[in-house]
Amino acid sequence: MNILLIGSGGREHALSWKLAQSPLCEALYIAPGNAGTANCGTNIDLSISDFEGICAFIRENEVKMLIVGPEAPLVDGIYDYCKTADGLEDLIIVGPSKEGAQLEGSKSYSKKFMADYGIPTAGYQKFTAANLQEGLDYLDTQTPPIVLKADGLAAGKGVLILDNIAEAKTELTAMLDGKFGNASSTVVIEEFLDGIEFSVFVLTDGKDYQVLPVAKDYKRIGHGDTGLNTGGMGAISPVPFVDAAMMQKVDERIIKPTIKGLIDRNITYKGFIFIGLIRVAGEPYVIEYNCRMGDPETEVVIPRIKNDLVELFSTMENGQLANTSIVKDERSATTVMLVSGGYPEAYEKGKTISGTATITDSIVFHAGTKIQGTDLVTNGGRVIAVTSFGNNFQEALAISKKNAALIDFEGKYYRKDIGFDL
Ligand code: AMP
Ligand code: GLY
Repeated sequence: MNILLIGSGGREHALSWKLAQSPLCEALYIAPGNAGTANCGTNIDLSISDFEGICAFIRENEVKMLIVGPEAPLVDGIYDYCKTADGLEDLIIVGPSKEGAQLEGSKSYSKKFMADYGIPTAGYQKFTAANLQEGLDYLDTQTPPIVLKADGLAAGKGVLILDNIAEAKTELTAMLDGKFGNASSTVVIEEFLDGIEFSVFVLTDGKDYQVLPVAKDYKRIGHGDTGLNTGGMGAISPVPFVDAAMMQKVDERIIKPTIKGLIDRNITYKGFIFIGLIRVAGEPYVIEYNCRMGDPETEVVIPRIKNDLVELFSTMENGQLANTSIVKDERSATTVMLVSGGYPEAYEKGKTISGTATITDSIVFHAGTKIQGTDLVTNGGRVIAVTSFGNNFQEALAISKKNAALIDFEGKYYRKDIGFDL
């Protein structure tokens, strides 16, 4: 069948790399894609927010399966738009309906959802400009650190963790005054959870589900988890401390009630649920839901899945996920992200990248790259994810680091300590 994948990051290169291996995949299109996805299929010059253009492309090219990589189009309702577009009723869409995407698109929606279904998460209150004073008074009753979250999507920047009440008051006021535009017109104030984070990925048809390999990402720019937050500097899968007993707790206390909530609320949800978790005193709590795969987690999760991905998505579409199973590569995978100098603050693009062609013992996933003339050049903050396998994450990391040193572009930076806290 013909398949269209939406997005342009390392996640989309990993997905397209896997999709292209399926004998069921006839033509693979990626919109807009990057220089890496161009080796797996055909990049299409379409914006991820151009739903009309996407539907027209689907019709013209007899696309039967649409896979949505990033959250923004899902939160904006691409599922509902396509499903109601002329002639696209039978399109297989990997990604939830607009309502389902609210699990990521609105923190207050997801907190209420978790409260309704008894899913363990940090306690919270929500405030708007109309009750700012109540919010400020509430902060006086709290003990730092204080967690403030913009309700809506804020390009990964909408969570602030503050060490004192005065700063928290200033930030709450600024957020409700439009610091993150409309996204912070409602702010959730959350209890701070102290623990170690991990990421669980579920593929669901809204009634049954399969759990994908567990992963852990490293978000801070600096070694030892210091400095600014980024989109993700590396990831590992599996995660040594997430054993069968922990997964059992996650399944019983978090995944099952989440699926029950989708069923109860009649939410159409065929796609990934990415559950950001934190282990506190041995118990799992939800930090957040996302309605798509993680990046760079996808670069370690997808290579560890042996199933045919197109077949798995078709099984999901047919509501048969209960009758299948995920076959995992038992080896460990580690990915190391090479980023542009200056990222996550200002950085330059267009730097020539060398050294990718000679690498044979890692998978080189492109994130922010493009072809300029005959050159491969940088085209974003996160540039390339180098994924390797090993008997444990340390072995895999050693191979990724060896190859990260061989790839070069002006200003290249990467973390050498992925997994340091395990
Ligand atoms: P989110 O966008 O909700 O994933 O939050 C971004 C990051 O902020 C998370 O990955 C955590 O590291 C941190 N964070 C969010 N909520 C909390 C919380 N309640 N307690 C501690 N850390 C948090
Ligand atoms: N790696 C975290 C995310 O994709 O949101």
